[in-house]
Amino acid sequence: MLSVRGATKRYGAVQALAGADLDVHAGEVVALVGDNGAGKSTLVKVISGAITADSGTITFEGEQVRVTRPQDAQSLGITTVFQDLALCENLDVVANLHLGSEVRSHSVLGEIRMERAARDLLRSLDVKIKDVRTPVASLSGGQRQSVAIARALLGEPKMVVLDEPTAALGVEQTAQVLGLVKRLRERGLAVLLISHNLVDVREVSDRVVVLRLGRNAGTFETASTTQEEIVAAITGADAYGAAS
Ligand SMILES: Nc1ncnc2c1ncn2[C@@H]1O[C@H](COP(=O)(O)OP(=O)(O)OP(=O)(O)O)[C@@H](O)[C@H]1O
Ligand SMILES: [Mg+2]
Repeated sequence: MLSVRGATKRYGAVQALAGADLDVHAGEVVALVGDNGAGKSTLVKVISGAITADSGTITFEGEQVRVTRPQDAQSLGITTVFQDLALCENLDVVANLHLGSEVRSHSVLGEIRMERAARDLLRSLDVKIKDVRTPVASLSGGQRQSVAIARALLGEPKMVVLDEPTAALGVEQTAQVLGLVKRLRERGLAVLLISHNLVDVREVSDRVVVLRLGRNAGTFETASTTQEEIVAAITGADAYGAAS
């Protein structure tokens, strides 16, 4: 579905991306991993139109595309859930799900319709929130992440990019969010998951793409790869543990 080839991006003296490639297919969860500063967020920003790469190409559904603004990514069907989530704390779940969407809520009927839509969406994703009229501020981290992901799905995207969705979560909440990621795959979406947690990565991803110093440092089929192999690719050590 998505192919990035030779993406480069320089910030002053820092070569954040130095010719990175990435492929993500429909119905697949690809984990993007790498050490701090490896270029993961920069690559995500290139895909989501937050920044423009200095060079390289993006192909989406077989056609070369230009993604220079967030709207470009949106209209292709690529949606990104950034780490800060951008939820409105003081608004309830229903209002957050419909923020900026086309449904107008100036009538009682509109409110009822939005509430029903919110409940249906969360139920279809198996997200458990007792009362959709709860302000987001009083939800758990996992519930908030789930609301943010659910909102991203309202635009019926083809590809979802999740930047560190479990970084701030406890064990139970992490399991909830990983379950949600699996359901995105079952829906046939292409999922790109950025994570520092190799346990999560191993549980949920089909492939692992390792970035190191802005370049590809290996692509692995998750099922047939050990955690040690992934760590070695991340750190640049070879199979015998020596630095290369
Ligand atoms: N706006 C910016 N201005 C200057 N340098 C930047 C900017 N954004 C990123 N960089 C640099 O580019 C490199 C790659 O950063 P990036 O945020 O993509 O890494 P990352 O893999 O997401 O790391 P982390 O795991 O810490 O989130 C780093 O050296 C970083 O300092
Ligand atoms: Mg980052």
